Amino acid sequence: MRLTAIILAAGLGIRMKSSIPKVLHKIYDKPIIHYIIETLHQLQPEKIIIVINEDSHILRNSLENTFPSLTFAIQQDQKGTADALKAGISQLKDFQGIVLVVNGDTPFISLQTLRNLLDLNKSNSEDISFVSFIAKNPEGYGRVIRRDGRVIKIVEEKNATKKQKEIQEVNSGIYAIKSSLLELLNYIKIDPKKGEYFLTDLVEIAASKGYRVGAHNIANEEELIGINTREDLHLALHYLKKRIAKTWLSNGVTILDINTAFIHPDVQIGRDTVIYPNVFLEGRTIIGQDCKIYSNTRILNSVLGNNVFIKDCCVIESAQIMDGTIIGPFAHIRPDSIIGPMSKVGNFVEIKKSVLGRGVKASHLSYLGDSEIGNNVNIGAGTITCNYDGRSKYKTTIEDDVFVGSDTQLVAPVRVGRGAYIGSGSTITKDVPAGSLAVSRAKQKNIEGWVYRKRKQK
Ligand code: UD1
Ligand code: CA
Repeated sequence: MRLTAIILAAGLGIRMKSSIPKVLHKIYDKPIIHYIIETLHQLQPEKIIIVINEDSHILRNSLENTFPSLTFAIQQDQKGTADALKAGISQLKDFQGIVLVVNGDTPFISLQTLRNLLDLNKSNSEDISFVSFIAKNPEGYGRVIRRDGRVIKIVEEKNATKKQKEIQEVNSGIYAIKSSLLELLNYIKIDPKKGEYFLTDLVEIAASKGYRVGAHNIANEEELIGINTREDLHLALHYLKKRIAKTWLSNGVTILDINTAFIHPDVQIGRDTVIYPNVFLEGRTIIGQDCKIYSNTRILNSVLGNNVFIKDCCVIESAQIMDGTIIGPFAHIRPDSIIGPMSKVGNFVEIKKSVLGRGVKASHLSYLGDSEIGNNVNIGAGTITCNYDGRSKYKTTIEDDVFVGSDTQLVAPVRVGRGAYIGSGSTITKDVPAGSLAVSRAKQKNIEGWVYRKRKQK
């Protein structure tokens, strides 16, 4: 059977009280609408048509960049979901088969549920099938009305009687419709209360004309949550957060508190890694095996090897941390940094656009920017690369086995040769040859008895 998908996303999203389109609001770092598009792609329909409104330039631009194969349809005025579907159909051309219709604001519907709906549609030879679910609090959803078990209509919240409002089986907004049935859309009348054409009325029209209609309660409420308000957005985030955390638990990762483990959908984590409470793993971060990520840490688009230990309160962005390295507490690893294996970056150390070799120690209070640091280098406490002169950035190179004494300033561009030794408190402005000692500070002078003499004078 041929298959095409239509996503309804032209609504104004007024309930979000926002200046950006509703479906571009994000759950983790991904817009709501991306979730459903990614799922539909896996189903491989002939086309994915997305219905947007005329003013949705931001939405269109953002989608065109990420999903170049989408087909766009414009709904001129926001006259309801039935009118939106009509706009979508205009892009069908002479398609005949099953049209899968989904709401753009229902992000978590799974591929399996869509497949189950299509299977049921086929095996029951239904003309229109939709996914229903049991809502703990059905408020706001269309209620599924059955007579002798068979669906006869969907009643929207505003039109529901007190008794109908008690019905917990609700419409998810996901339909499989035979293309031949779509002409019945023309029979839908405007809803006097809301002034809109409701797609849900198609169910009653089809049922009354003797077509086969099926409502399938095949997924749970959390999967089918529709996002209309900020509170829905919040609920959706917390549902996704727990679902992802549970997936990692079942894949051999220890998570101390699934309520505060914020793991984005595209993150990967190796076995026996332990995630402490209040950790944010974001973007396309990859974490190896046997790592420990302590509390209040945020890792974004970074790659960690095996046996990496991130102590509390670190921020790591677009960086690579190799095997056996210890970071933190309170370290900031900024983009384009590579920290070699078996290294140690300690408290209050900031590293930017730098490559550190194996076994490097920068244990306390340093800034290393635009630098290249060899193996087994010791960076003393308080060492700073002076990489910026107000206009340009310059590079600091420190070769293998160098010892940099505490409180050193390395004024870039500068190179410290292999095995060199820099005395504490030096300001290094010239290259240091390999194997030499560099010291640049005033000689210490002791004036003996000075304190006692001062006291006597008083
Ligand atoms: C809709 C259903 C309701 C169901 C719920 C599930 C109708 C009338 N009601 O209600 O039965 O329980 O979804 O989440 O269909 N849209 C347009 N153009 C419009 C209006 C809406 O494209 O003119 C789009 C929206 O962008 C949205 C989708 O259609 O993605 C659903 O619209 P929304 O207003 O959110 O409907 P609900 O009130 O949630
Ligand atoms: Ca909705």
